[in-house]
Amino acid sequence: MSIGSAFSSIPVDVSSEPPALTSSRLPGFYKLGLQARRMVLEASAGVCLDDLTTLMGEGLDAVTADKMVENAVAVYGLPLGLGLNFVVNGRDVLVPMAVEEPSVVAAASNAALMVRAGGGFVAEADEPVMTAQVELLGVRDCLAAAARLREAAPRLLDEANALLPRLVARGGGARALEIRQSGRVGCLVVHLHVDCRDAMGANIVNTLAEGMAVRLATLAEGDHGLRILTNLCDRRCVRVQTRVPVEVLVAKGFEGLAVAEGIEAASRFAEDDPYRAATHNKGIMNGVDPVVIATGNDWRGVEAGAHAFAARDGRYRPLATWRLRGRELCGELAMPMAVGTVGGTLRLHPVARVALRLTGARTAGELGMVIGSAGLASNLAALRALASEGIQRGHMALHNRSLPHGAAISGGSVPNSSVD
Ligand code: MEV
Repeated sequence: MSIGSAFSSIPVDVSSEPPALTSSRLPGFYKLGLQARRMVLEASAGVCLDDLTTLMGEGLDAVTADKMVENAVAVYGLPLGLGLNFVVNGRDVLVPMAVEEPSVVAAASNAALMVRAGGGFVAEADEPVMTAQVELLGVRDCLAAAARLREAAPRLLDEANALLPRLVARGGGARALEIRQSGRVGCLVVHLHVDCRDAMGANIVNTLAEGMAVRLATLAEGDHGLRILTNLCDRRCVRVQTRVPVEVLVAKGFEGLAVAEGIEAASRFAEDDPYRAATHNKGIMNGVDPVVIATGNDWRGVEAGAHAFAARDGRYRPLATWRLRGRELCGELAMPMAVGTVGGTLRLHPVARVALRLTGARTAGELGMVIGSAGLASNLAALRALASEGIQRGHMALHNRSLPHGAAISGGSVPNSSVD
């Protein structure tokens, strides 16, 4: 079975097919050595020899790094772990996670196993629409200008699409024009909503904003100010749901039902209190960011979108909530997800390309659904720990793995506490 077959098929702009994955359940994976894990990947996840060679290599080489940023002096490495046990929309998915925090991969894998018992994650993604903002200043009559812009919208969209022939050929393009009153005297803000297909879209949208600014300002009889995308891409959200049987939430000294009640209570705390919501959302981003990074995407953009979305009604709220319904704990996550499966870092970073292939995602939307599932899994893991024995014991057990590195070198042993 191909994990890619879970999803509709717009091909990924990478060189080979996604691996054929039999199951994302790989019991005992954590007990293996690094080389043995790679061999398991080859055998059971269908990872091809080229990809395996890439995983066994140095990651990013210095010559490529030098092409990527100014003033490069070195390559900064991060562990790439695999989130296991994930089922997204009925299909097994391996979740590559690039992260320095010791407990993140194990916690997400552990929670994914619980979610699996309830049938896995059910996810959907909006169309991949990003938004360009063009600020118009010095507009003498904002009402009249807004009316002129609205009336011209169909023509303006045609003109916008003429600036994006390659995107239009791929099925994307400018979809809608919206005019917002900023509240500042003489100021309007035009939003151009653009379907970016499988690109993250920042370059597309910024090019469009700059290309259309003079035209929009002329129509408004004003000047243009800023021309740039918004990271609050609330037309490009993912939504993920899950139902976990309370029995599997059982923790040391705590019955499953008590843990589920505790998780609902923790959710309500975050819903009531922005200080708690910030930490709750940090737990979600523990799952989101590592996949965004591993797949070569812009995690600062995803972070900015997440937190702006969390505060969209003027109050900072949790991105995911939990309720106990009968004997099931039901979780829901919604957040913007500006990620791509073509272009950007993927062109240059060999491990990012392999990581993307490991997810089996064929489109940006599919990748977003995997990322959202990792976020909801991380949130569940954190709340379950908080609602039972607390976060520190499990966290520190995994944290300690990294401490005795010197001890291991000098003959000591590294505890291998992790998750099946
Ligand atoms: C730590 O990295 C994340 C948590 O603080 C999240 C939470 O409190 O929900 C444990």
